[in-house]
Amino acid sequence: MRNLSESNLTDAVLAKLEGATDARFKQIMTSLIKHLHAFVREVELTESEWLAGIQFLTATGQKCDDKRQEYILLSDTLGVSMLVDAINHRKPSGATESTVLGPFYVPGAPELPIGADLSAGLSGEKAHFAGRVLTAEGKPIPGATLDVWSTDNEGWYDVQLQGQAMRARGKIKTDADGRYAFWTVKPVSYPIPTDGPVGQMLLRMGRHPYRPAHTHMILSAPGYETVTTHVFVEGDPYLESDAVFAVKNSLVVEFKQHQPGIAPDGKRMDKPYCTVQYDFGLVPSRQVQAA
Ligand code: BEZ
Ligand code: FE
Repeated sequence: MRNLSESNLTDAVLAKLEGATDARFKQIMTSLIKHLHAFVREVELTESEWLAGIQFLTATGQKCDDKRQEYILLSDTLGVSMLVDAINHRKPSGATESTVLGPFYVPGAPELPIGADLSAGLSGEKAHFAGRVLTAEGKPIPGATLDVWSTDNEGWYDVQLQGQAMRARGKIKTDADGRYAFWTVKPVSYPIPTDGPVGQMLLRMGRHPYRPAHTHMILSAPGYETVTTHVFVEGDPYLESDAVFAVKNSLVVEFKQHQPGIAPDGKRMDKPYCTVQYDFGLVPSRQVQAA
């Protein structure tokens, strides 16, 4: 293994994987090394570009802490998160499509009764969500949980604001007919965090950092595959250019505008509000399917 050159260096590195006993690890590392070397050859990377890359990855790591995950943001903005999602969640028709989790999910949201207002104390337009959780064949799933979270009406998640208690989050369970309902704020489009290396990268790429308005949910029910998804606001200007490539047609929904009056749950609304009617579909979990 001497006199390694442009033409045989890749093979020499690959040969070093002979001792790897984990077959999947070996497969992944083989492919990674091949693609990484091919990339360096293709662009004929200069030493200063190589160093800039190392510095970028170092800064990305240094930006991470218990609240901020800059590497996931990097994966999101390069479309890797959605590619992994697509490969791992190939769904039959009738099943709700999945999309990115994002960095602002917080476990332990309060369990609230059907019809509760998750956005209590927030200003902004209220949105009433209602519908059912169904099997892909259209049968209701009682006792399914919708773990919901969203920004406030200015595009901030509670965890982005210093000292802010949990808000615009809650878990709602479906009733015996698989029905759910809740109130929250109508979401707005907002920029992903740009105060780190990923923000700099987007700027140099000539890209904007915005996500189209959406409400997040994780749907789960015993015996069914958990789905991490969003409901997007139809008509949002960023639907065609989501900074993290996460929009799917089946998740874009009308937020129907209403003047003040009586809402679908009988509540008197003294300001304009909107309603969303949306049914979710779950598929049996893989263990159940395999049994
Ligand atoms: C979000 O929707 O909360 C999100 C997703 C990916 C990156 C940043 C934010
Ligand atoms: Fe979000």
